[in-house]
Amino acid sequence: MKLFTPVRLRAAALRNRVIKSATFEGMSPGGAPSPALTEHHRRLAAGGVGLTTVAYCAVEPGGRSFAEQMVMSPALVDALRPLTAAVAAEGGAAALQLTHCGFFTKLGRDDGRPRAPSRVFNAYGALSGIPLSQAMSEAEIAATVAAFAEAAALAKDAGFAAVELHMGHGYLLSQFLTPAINRRRDRWGGSLEGRLRMPLAVVAAARAAVGGDFPLIAKINLRDGFRGGLEIAEAIAVARALEGAGVDLLVLSGGYTSKTPFFLLRGGRPLRDMVAVETSRAQRMALRLFGPLYVKRYPFTEMFLRDLALEVRAAVKMPLALLGGLVSRANLEQAAADGFDFVALARALIADPDLVVRMERGEIERTRCDACNRCVALMDDGGVRCVLDDPPAA
Ligand SMILES: Cc1cc2nc3c(=O)[nH]c(=O)nc-3n(C[C@H](O)[C@H](O)[C@H](O)COP(=O)(O)O)c2cc1C
Repeated sequence: MKLFTPVRLRAAALRNRVIKSATFEGMSPGGAPSPALTEHHRRLAAGGVGLTTVAYCAVEPGGRSFAEQMVMSPALVDALRPLTAAVAAEGGAAALQLTHCGFFTKLGRDDGRPRAPSRVFNAYGALSGIPLSQAMSEAEIAATVAAFAEAAALAKDAGFAAVELHMGHGYLLSQFLTPAINRRRDRWGGSLEGRLRMPLAVVAAARAAVGGDFPLIAKINLRDGFRGGLEIAEAIAVARALEGAGVDLLVLSGGYTSKTPFFLLRGGRPLRDMVAVETSRAQRMALRLFGPLYVKRYPFTEMFLRDLALEVRAAVKMPLALLGGLVSRANLEQAAADGFDFVALARALIADPDLVVRMERGEIERTRCDACNRCVALMDDGGVRCVLDDPPAA
């Protein structure tokens, strides 16, 4: 299968075109990468993925959604080297996902409210005393752009083969793109050209920081999934703009963690686990009472973003990764036949980290993952894992 053949992204030589999509590992206590994080990604590399994405590294402390998330800094470079070396020793390559949460956080900060394009209601943080965000000043936008660039350069120093700039799922760069969230009247908002200015500034600064040989990947939304959100016509324009800006690969996703979290996953809605792991009593109560109403269900279908992704495929020439509900060899073959250059898989590889080598050997046709989504609820509770491996309840 073509997806199992080598490919280059700028200087990065990848042994195949299968990407482990970023899934927050919950394996960085105190913000430091743990041996478990290294082992998690080593195992994925040993299992045959071409590029494994280390999730959700914030570019500045105020960009964290979770207290124990990594924040890129010079001090982290040496700490991350064992991970990138372990992945390379297995013949794989690692990318680092760089992110800023914008308003989507429950963490307070000393200098005011969470920063976002505009002042918006933050339902996620409301019961933690953070009901509103604060619009970023020009100087804050410039500082955050610089933080993305610095983080990309440090990731390169740490031995990552690429960085993935997170522009989807309702995090800061996605918040800039979304008309209902970015209500700015200055040059950073308004028309799509204005809403694109921040993501494009990040790409330009990151490119200047990493040089011409290092791949920049962007994860973008095809649709946000709520009224006033980004829709496919604008997503196509975003893809074209990123292609023009020299991004090397787009990972096509969708959904808004603060509003439509299961749009990006589909399948089970593990409310009981979400309640069980919630540490705040008030949040627990709210989730129990309002969760069934507020957390919308989206049934799982295989390749659930394919139709929207095909519209982007028709509009750009650049490499694209199809993501979302790829669970079988037949799905991978369909993605390649559709003209997607890469595939990205998340839950299938949490359930079966050696899916690629077993598919190559003809031992397995599909993952055992049943999209229960309990891995999502439990990722911050002892590290991401497939619950199918949990011992049966006594
Ligand atoms: C446990 C878990 C954690 C996730 N964490 C992240 C994350 O940190 N960053 C991100 O961009 N997407 C995250 N996602 C979304 C996945 O990368 C992917 O977009 C989604 O699961 C759909 O792909 P799949 O159908 O192959 O699972 C997460 C998904 C899961 C299941």
